[in-house]
Amino acid sequence: MSGNPPMPLRIAILTVSDRSFAGVREDLSGPALLALVEAHGWQVAASEIVPDEMDEIAHRLIAWADGGQVDVVLTTGGTGFAPRDVTPEATLAVLERRAPGIVEAVRAASLQITPHAMLSRAEAGIRRQTLIINLPGSPKAVRENFQILQPVLSHAVALLRGDQDAEAGH
Ligand code: MTE
Repeated sequence: MSGNPPMPLRIAILTVSDRSFAGVREDLSGPALLALVEAHGWQVAASEIVPDEMDEIAHRLIAWADGGQVDVVLTTGGTGFAPRDVTPEATLAVLERRAPGIVEAVRAASLQITPHAMLSRAEAGIRRQTLIINLPGSPKAVRENFQILQPVLSHAVALLRGDQDAEAGH
């Protein structure tokens, strides 16, 4: 038996939306994610809204990943085809290692719910010891995506932390 209980996941939430940033539209997806994270007994390490700007998204992701206090960043919004949808590009710019299996699984499961899932350009991957995952922007899509992702997050983070027990369990 190992000694200390595992540290709860520390999850940061980034809402990417020009309109929510400007206060024109209420951010419903960020709070929806926050509620889901807390319902799983995980910690919301931070939560912010940024506009659909590459630099602002990338800057936030880098600060959280390099600060060492965040295990997982979940972004919501900006993954579609609209001209200002740049969340995947900002994410790719900061990732050190991609994790394509995560977004493949989310899209495959989401396609059982709506054909619009194929319009998500979401990316996922790792920077330092932080896993970054893009989710779509609607509260409905956020809830559906979270249900798909949540069974693997603890194991993913244990591996990122270099937890020997997690590796031995393979
Ligand atoms: N995935 C799930 N599970 N449920 C959804 O309703 N909406 C799709 C898709 N993925 C959706 C989904 C739609 S309509 C779009 S346009 C893309 O995600 C991108 O969404 P975004 O531009 O809000 O990021």
